[in-house]
Amino acid sequence: MATRDVAVLVGSLRKDSFNRKAARALTELAPQTLKLEIIEIGQLPLYNQDLDTNPPAEWTAFRDRIRNADAVIFVTPEYNRSVPGVLKNAIDVGSRPYGKSAWDKKPCAVVSVSPGAIGAFGANHHLRQSLVFLNMPTMQQPEAYVGGADKLFDPEGKLTNESTRGFLAKVMQAFAAWIEKNAWR
Ligand code: FNR
Repeated sequence: MATRDVAVLVGSLRKDSFNRKAARALTELAPQTLKLEIIEIGQLPLYNQDLDTNPPAEWTAFRDRIRNADAVIFVTPEYNRSVPGVLKNAIDVGSRPYGKSAWDKKPCAVVSVSPGAIGAFGANHHLRQSLVFLNMPTMQQPEAYVGGADKLFDPEGKLTNESTRGFLAKVMQAFAAWIEKNAWR
C-alpha cells in the first residue's frame, strides 16, 4: 500500500490542548502507511476576500500544503456547540480563491475532543456540514466523539487510557482504508 501524507488540523491554539494531545496520539497509533503531520493554523490572517488578489504568504503556504496532502484529519474542540473560529478560518482560507479550493476531493475524518460528556458532538457535526459543501469524502464510521478528555492523558500529554487508545487505533485503521477507497491520486 502507498504511503499517504495526512494533514492534521487541530482546532485549538491552547498550549496544553487536549485536542493537540489527541492529535499526537493519532500520529502514534496510525498504521505505518499513514504519515501524519500537524499543520499549524494559528498564524493564518483572518480571511478577507479583498486579499485574494494579493494573498498573504501564510495563506499561500497553507493552501499549497493542503493541496499536496492525500487526506486530512480534523481534531477539534467544541466552542459554544460549534467549531472554534480558528479552525473555521483555516477552512475558509483553504477554500478560496473560488474554484481553486485546496480541500476538493480530499478524504477526511473528524475527531472531536472535549472534557465534557458528549465529546464535542455539536462541533463534530457542524464541521461535517462544511465538509459536504467542500466535496470532501468524510469517514462516517467509526464516529469519534472523545469525552472526558481531562482524564485521558498523563502529565507529559501521553494518552494513557487504554480503551481510548484501542478506539483511536481502530479509527486510524478505518481511516487508512477510507483513504484508499476515496483516493484522489
Ligand atoms: C468551551 N468549552 C466547551 N466544551 C464543550 O464540550 N462544548 C462547548 O460548547 C464548549 N464551549 C466552549 C466555548 C469556549 C469559548 C471555550 C474557551 C471553551 C470547553 C472546552 O471543551 C475546553 O476548554 C477544552 O479544553 C478545549 O479544547 P482544548 O483546548 O483542550 O483542545
